[in-house]
Amino acid sequence: MIFAPMRFRHNVLELLDQRKLPLQEKWLRCRNSKDVYWAIKNMVVRGAPAIGIVGGYGLYLGIARYRGSRKGFFGLLRKQAVYLKGARPTGVNLRNVIDEIVKGTGKSKDRNISILKRLVLRQAQAAHHLDEKLCRRMGAHGAKLLRSGDTVLTHCNAGGLATSGFGTALGVFYAAKGQGKKIAVFADETRPLLQGARLTAWELTKSKIPCTLICDNMAACMMKAGRIDAVIVGADRIAANGDTANKIGTYNLAVLARAHRIPFYIAAPVTTFDFSIRNGKGIPIEYRDPQEVTEGLGKRIAPRRVKVLNPAFDVTPHLLITSFITEAGVLKKPFRRSFLKLRKK
Ligand code: MRU
Repeated sequence: MIFAPMRFRHNVLELLDQRKLPLQEKWLRCRNSKDVYWAIKNMVVRGAPAIGIVGGYGLYLGIARYRGSRKGFFGLLRKQAVYLKGARPTGVNLRNVIDEIVKGTGKSKDRNISILKRLVLRQAQAAHHLDEKLCRRMGAHGAKLLRSGDTVLTHCNAGGLATSGFGTALGVFYAAKGQGKKIAVFADETRPLLQGARLTAWELTKSKIPCTLICDNMAACMMKAGRIDAVIVGADRIAANGDTANKIGTYNLAVLARAHRIPFYIAAPVTTFDFSIRNGKGIPIEYRDPQEVTEGLGKRIAPRRVKVLNPAFDVTPHLLITSFITEAGVLKKPFRRSFLKLRKK
């Protein structure tokens, strides 16, 4: 199944409002870059690849009404790029898609503003279509790691909703199902915003993949009981040494998986790698509003003056990662060597 969370038509970007899932399926319309910035910041759309795609369309909407000189056009394009990249800092895809579009447009010698605008849109569409291809290829490679009858634990939502429609970690399950394998999934609920309970459980139920929802603190005892054969999660940014930022709580799972000798896989397209950052220390971690923790379940659950920390992501050290599932194949240790081969490709 495909769960495309965005569609672009007639100069309007429509986003499936993920804050409302699974209870309501409502689409929100973005007509300018301010709308897009707001939607990314407030998690109407989320998941690193999806944010990247949407950022590309946002950049186009930011310049779509411009009439003026070529110099003014590029000034605005750069200003919009900086603005949109500030919406969420951890996922690298937003920065990458936007920088690529600015760079690609800058190569054009054209003075015709309509042609330059179309070039921006075409590149945003290309980033969108590229993600569709990458996720399917990645799914096929990842599915080979699973045996029929396996139960896999996942965290947050790295599904169609987090990408152009097929997903990374969940894409592996969809591909395995397509290969006739019987896979069952344990979904961590993923506090504080419950992407696992609300989004992953929704996707898997619709796809008829057996899914068991557990609270985040239940993973260890499920592993000890021998109920989990592998862990597969997505990624927001992967540093040059393999240290990986993903939804807060991923690191806990990696430690638990190592303690129980369970393979721990990251499924991510090559667009999620950031070779400009040597290790996880260089990955910017987004801290979100404390209210997400104190009112995470819809109503106040903590005393008024309590101190709160709300990092949205953590970094899993590469030593805890078994391998990376990418569209170019499964990258094994030593990661520096397999990443080098990947970059050469
Ligand atoms: O805060 P979110 O919901 O945007 O976090 C999403 C994740 O951490 C995903 O696992 C990651 O972006 C990979 S999605 C293919």
